[in-house]
Amino acid sequence: MRLRQKLFLILGLMTSIPLLVLLFGVVERIESDLEQRITAELQDTLSTMSTEVDSIISSQIATVKGLSHVPGVNDFISTAYERDENSYDDKALALKQFFLDYQKSVSAIQALRVTDETGKTILKVKEGKNIEPLLVDNDRGRYYIADQSQRSFFREALNTSEQVFISDFELGQVQKDAEFCPAMLRYSVPIRNEKDTFTGMLIVNMWGTRIDTAVQATMSGQSGKVYIVEANDNITSRDGVYLYHHDTQHRFANQLGTPYRFDLDVGEDVWKTLRAQAEPGSMKLNDGRILFYNQYSPYPDGRSKWLLVVETSEDIIFQPIAQLRSTILYLLVILLVVSLLVAVWVAGRLAQPVQHLARVIDRYKEGERRLRYREKRSDDIGVAGKAFNSLCEKIEKTKKERDKAQKAAEQAERLAAVGQMAAGIGHEINNPLLNIMSLATLAEQSISEKNNQQAEADLSLLKEEGKRCASIVQGILNFSRSSEPVFEEFNLSELLVDTLELLQHKFDKKNLVADRTVQPDLKMRGDKSQIQQVLVNVFLNAIYASPEGEIITITAYVANQNKIIVKILDHGDGITRDDAKRIFNPFFSTKPVGQGTGMGLSVSYGIIDKHHGKISIENAKDAGAIVKIILPLATSEQEERHAGIKESAAG
Ligand SMILES: Nc1ncnc2c1ncn2[C@@H]1O[C@H](COP(=O)(O)OP(=O)(O)OP(=O)(O)O)[C@@H](O)[C@H]1O
Ligand SMILES: [Mg+2]
Repeated sequence: MRLRQKLFLILGLMTSIPLLVLLFGVVERIESDLEQRITAELQDTLSTMSTEVDSIISSQIATVKGLSHVPGVNDFISTAYERDENSYDDKALALKQFFLDYQKSVSAIQALRVTDETGKTILKVKEGKNIEPLLVDNDRGRYYIADQSQRSFFREALNTSEQVFISDFELGQVQKDAEFCPAMLRYSVPIRNEKDTFTGMLIVNMWGTRIDTAVQATMSGQSGKVYIVEANDNITSRDGVYLYHHDTQHRFANQLGTPYRFDLDVGEDVWKTLRAQAEPGSMKLNDGRILFYNQYSPYPDGRSKWLLVVETSEDIIFQPIAQLRSTILYLLVILLVVSLLVAVWVAGRLAQPVQHLARVIDRYKEGERRLRYREKRSDDIGVAGKAFNSLCEKIEKTKKERDKAQKAAEQAERLAAVGQMAAGIGHEINNPLLNIMSLATLAEQSISEKNNQQAEADLSLLKEEGKRCASIVQGILNFSRSSEPVFEEFNLSELLVDTLELLQHKFDKKNLVADRTVQPDLKMRGDKSQIQQVLVNVFLNAIYASPEGEIITITAYVANQNKIIVKILDHGDGITRDDAKRIFNPFFSTKPVGQGTGMGLSVSYGIIDKHHGKISIENAKDAGAIVKIILPLATSEQEERHAGIKESAAG
């Protein structure tokens, strides 16, 4: 992994890990706190709601009870029993008026009515209006409004021991196609006279909207839906019906004939469990809904119960957290992007000096030996740079020492060569000197014997041996002489031809043919006599190696515009692999003792090298050896420059 990527990873982790901890740890904690808080809040709401509903019902009971004790009410109902027509009408009129006034002041009242002891409504005020009695009671000779004797709120009121009987919570009007009519509760108070005879009933209808408003008010500001569900052990059709539901269509399924029922909405099992709970609590449903419940009993006789339910879900409870969670998530993404940019920037800044150092090291490796790390840094990279510099110094020092050692080795080699040379000189010169000695003795004898012919022959041999000594000494001098060659421009083509002519008799001696293809005017600058010395040696070697009657091919031409190539090919035995390594060594010769000095090629090598050329010898494919000499061609530029120098010298 590259440095930049590593830095990015570290920075990315450094920013994202705390955020992830925040997201999963802190949010988790907040969630459970929130759940607890909302649970407590909803339980509180439910208990407030039941207190609220209870206080409404209690106050309504108190109102109705109070009304039943109002003298006008009590008196009318008690005397209606008697058949005193005059006082009846007056009292009825007065009570009607009282009821109308009273209803005006207590808006919760929907209707007020009075029945006689048989259950016939003899007086009724409804929604601010007097209801006229239109039906005739033949027994009493009196008009009445309706017969309530068979209605449950009348019958049950008679049968209970309660002072005020509360009817089931129901629709104010039960008709099939009727529009929704607010729910209501009927409060029935049986009235008895002084003799404790039942004389009639005071029935007050109270609007159920009063309870709706209380429920809604308690729930205001809370999330979740609230229901009031009836749990009725006696009337199965009422068991599980909604008494309150925000959608009025769902209420009183048994009276409206709608299919909406709480027990169907939550399932039979859940309903059974819920209705059995006496204590407030909550329940999680499989579909994610959470139900908070609180039982309330409005009826003193306990015939049915109301279940106050608040329905909510985790989504709703955790909605504020969801927002926090997504905010943190966004933050995480933003921080990741920012950290990416920062990482790219920081990584760039941090990696740049490292990359610079790497480049310096690379360039040093490629051969820039003098290059050093020059940045002034106090950090680790600076330290690495300094370490690199001192490593370079060490390497350079080692290299210098190695070069020195190599030079010393070369020097030693030279000394060895000189030693060899000395041995060679001793050996080479020893023979001709011995010969000279014996020839001189012979010549001395011949002269004393006056054998002039023999003396001449001896002296001539003596001269030969002397020449040999001189040539050996010359070779040594050539090898050791460090004098620079005298450079002049000359025509190599002409020198080649002249040299071949000079050696013609040597060719003839072995019946050899010199086949030459020499490009004319091969001009070069150099020491003409030294170059001729090279040519002579190479030609003599070729002649020596060639069998009788063979051809020696000499070619000379220009290659690559500025190089003269001279090739000398013979048909001898060529050179063995072992000899090839040594042929340029001084005194290396395969010729029999006395025939070669072994200095020819080593001297030639030195001469060609001084002329900035090259000489090599290798075996030819189908013939013997081929010698290749490369020399620089004199360019017109050089000529001009040279001419200029001459002119200025002359001038
Ligand atoms: N054309 C060639 N064919 C085969 N061997 C060669 C040829 N030219 C040179 N050599 C080998 O290289 C050796 C060295 O040659 P070099 O010219 O230095 O010395 P030399 O010829 O032996 O003695 P000198 O040159 O003094 O007569 C020769 O003895 C020979 O073995
Ligand atoms: Mg030779």
